Amino acid sequence: GILCSDFPEQLIAVRKDAPLLIGYGADGNYIASDVTALLAHTRTVTYMEDDEVAVVTADHVQILGRDGCFLEKEKHQIQWDVSAAEKGGYAHFMLKEIHEQPDALKNTILPRLSKGQPDLADDGIPDSILKDCRRIHVIACGTAMHAGMVARALIEPGIRIPVTVSIASEFRYETPLIDEKTLVIVISQSGETIDTLAAMRLAQSYYAPVLAIVNVKGSTIARESNYVLYTHAGPEIAVASTKAYSVQLAALYLIYCRMALVRGVYSPVQAENFMKELLDAIPAMETMISRKDEVKNIVNHIISKSDAFFIGRGLDYAFSLEGALKLKEISYIHAEAYAAGELKHGTIALISEQVPVIAIATQEHIFAKTISNVREVKARGAFVILLVKESAVIEDDIADVQIRIPDIADSFTVFPIAAILQLIAYYA
Ligand code: M6R
Repeated sequence: GILCSDFPEQLIAVRKDAPLLIGYGADGNYIASDVTALLAHTRTVTYMEDDEVAVVTADHVQILGRDGCFLEKEKHQIQWDVSAAEKGGYAHFMLKEIHEQPDALKNTILPRLSKGQPDLADDGIPDSILKDCRRIHVIACGTAMHAGMVARALIEPGIRIPVTVSIASEFRYETPLIDEKTLVIVISQSGETIDTLAAMRLAQSYYAPVLAIVNVKGSTIARESNYVLYTHAGPEIAVASTKAYSVQLAALYLIYCRMALVRGVYSPVQAENFMKELLDAIPAMETMISRKDEVKNIVNHIISKSDAFFIGRGLDYAFSLEGALKLKEISYIHAEAYAAGELKHGTIALISEQVPVIAIATQEHIFAKTISNVREVKARGAFVILLVKESAVIEDDIADVQIRIPDIADSFTVFPIAAILQLIAYYA
């Protein structure tokens, strides 16, 4: 945005690589990089493209292309309301957004069910891209990338096609092995993360179809991707992604189930059962959110320490990555996630008296293996917080604290576990 004292009534705005929106208000016009900044003033916006220039005054907006010609650009109505961008009685946006997850999940999943089975036709996602692809490449950053790791652990064994997950900031500088038979799934809450956008453009230059999972309508990634599956989380204000992660997972579970259906991996009844189990995870998550005081009480064992470790295997390892990111991002405590079986290859040297280890063991087929890793860290004096299912059978003294989640199918434990990990980070 450029102001000049010779033209005090006028604001010039130019977009280059970073997002820019024009907001049309009753009391004036606005520029912003994010729609949430405008919600208190207006919900009518225009999305600018790279190199476009806006000349903004209190009662008039003119937009010019790079060649200086005036452009007629579409005005969009934002559906989010102002209350979505207010704390609504919660101490912080992060806590509010943790609580919003069950509703956000329902908003993302329920409109896409037809006779109990996932149907993405209204989103304009053709079955052919799910049926004909030979491999999947997921590209994202941070939390969104961790959602992709969960999807890999679900899709690869389920569908039996290779799934690669790439960090967008790495992928964008690589010479990737992808082609028109690779379904590229790009995940971004904001739809504006520059590394993810650049990675997406690179993937498209290899003719790979791109399916974007995005929360913000009209964002650059949503506009430039070939197909979009919107998550309906409402605005995420807190820096730490919580509800965005859950709905990204929900979108990926929908894609997985639709893919299994159209490829004949699931019968319609199996697809319906899968979706029922996904919906069962929502009350399980709600239960863990309501038990937040249980989590609050244990963070004292973490906040006085300089390091914390998160361990798990398979899907539990994918959840651990997100748990560690949340803790370090929000509490500034150094945190690492390890595939539980990898600890003994060096890192176990760092496990000493009272070092907090958050161990996740919700996957039946590797449960005993993870528990044996818990014994290893316990033997070195670690303070172990163990997250397991209600019905898990283990000795009482295996861990210092146990948090038990409701008994739901293994593939869906991410939802209650995510709530615990987010609350650990928040209270820490
Ligand atoms: O908007 P995006 O989903 O593309 O953002 C990607 C990451 O920056 C984001 O997920 C980040 O890791 C989280 N906010 C951390 O909690």
